[in-house]
Amino acid sequence: MTKILVTGGSGFIGSNFILYARSHQLAEIINLDKLTYASNPKSLVQLQNDNGYLFQRGDIGDSNLVLSLLRQHQPQFVINFAAESHVDRSIFSPQEFIQTNVVGTLQLLEAVRAFHQELSPAEQEQFRFLHISTDEVYGSLNKDDPAFTEETPYAPNSPYAASKASSDHLVRAYHHTYGLPTLTINCSNNYGPRQFPEKLIPLTIFNAIHHKPLPIYGRGDNIRDWLYVEDHCSAISLVLFKGKVGNTYNIGGGNQPTNLEIVTKICAILDELLPKPNFHYESLITFVKDRSGHDFRYCVDFSKIKRELGWQPQETIDSGLRKTILWYLNNLDWLEQCKSQNYDDWVAKNYGGKA
Ligand code: NAD
Ligand code: DAU
Repeated sequence: MTKILVTGGSGFIGSNFILYARSHQLAEIINLDKLTYASNPKSLVQLQNDNGYLFQRGDIGDSNLVLSLLRQHQPQFVINFAAESHVDRSIFSPQEFIQTNVVGTLQLLEAVRAFHQELSPAEQEQFRFLHISTDEVYGSLNKDDPAFTEETPYAPNSPYAASKASSDHLVRAYHHTYGLPTLTINCSNNYGPRQFPEKLIPLTIFNAIHHKPLPIYGRGDNIRDWLYVEDHCSAISLVLFKGKVGNTYNIGGGNQPTNLEIVTKICAILDELLPKPNFHYESLITFVKDRSGHDFRYCVDFSKIKRELGWQPQETIDSGLRKTILWYLNNLDWLEQCKSQNYDDWVAKNYGGKA
């Protein structure tokens, strides 16, 4: 049976990928996760009796632990999702981002390199290390600039983006220098079930349900390229099994709404699915002070993966948002699990100064 060591599998994209992999019987999964604030124990509860899923709590920076896991389970694939992932947090605490995203990725690569050297030539040939990265490494676009391609020079603007760019360079160097069979995905803003309510879409749903203000940075005219998480999972599976070693693949959702349009759409769907008498969710929209160094626009050219591997997104922004909102409304206990003193402290710290 094919085995994949997944890191950061208890977070948003990782948990969706693990559920996708198990339901499509792609592989057995070993999930190594530190269980930071961004993870949610309820995300993978449905796999508790699945013999093809194993959880190990730990840090990707602990190369002894990673090497012993690799030796014990002998996976053919490693997918690295583990990261500190929130741009606003990176503005307050860049050190944690360097520690996990840069030093942690380096330590992980060292363990994987040692394991790869122990394999037979046939096993080495089959082995892949897939690194999940972001379109933010390419910097910011103006309204009419062409989309990011795999050849766009790196120009990261936030501490988060700089840490991810650095990790991408390490992955590239391990392929070039040591011949490690790596692949990298640079994808746009994911949304969907199981995303921690600090990112724009789940935060808007969470606050709207609780009748709290819906904070929009600046004028709400920034543009993102929104990718439904299950579309990302199908792309990950294609790149993992069919991608060309040493290559990077851009993945995007093929849309360009402004933040204000996204939040307004969410409000309109909630008016329909969770109506309140004499009330429109849009009335909760509140413009707040902008994010420092806020990137204006991201847009991803995903023609390479479309051409080479036949992938394209299945969800439109409207169908994806509806599915997402329905999932949160049907899983209010998942959302409640995210509430903590730590969460309240974060909200006060980030939004207190933006009022
Ligand atoms: P997330 O913050 O929801 O989850 C991250 C997971 O990694 C958590 O379960 C956390 O406990 C774990 N983790 C953190 N530090 C760790 C460490 N040192 N060792 C082991 N586990 C650790 O993140 P996400 O949104 O699921 O993103 C996953 C990956 O995809 C990240 O690398 C991120 O940079 C990248 N990415 C995310 C998006 C997006 O829109 N969410 C878009 C592009 C790329
Ligand atoms: O582009 C991919 C990246 O997308 C990933 O690499 C990151 O891990 C992920 O967090 C995401 O980064 P963004 O900064 O684009 O996502 P976020 O959801 O934080 O913000 C989306 C947009 O909404 C951005 O323009 C900032 C704005 N925003 C965000 C929050 C949290 C608001 O207007 N109000 C908010 O409260």
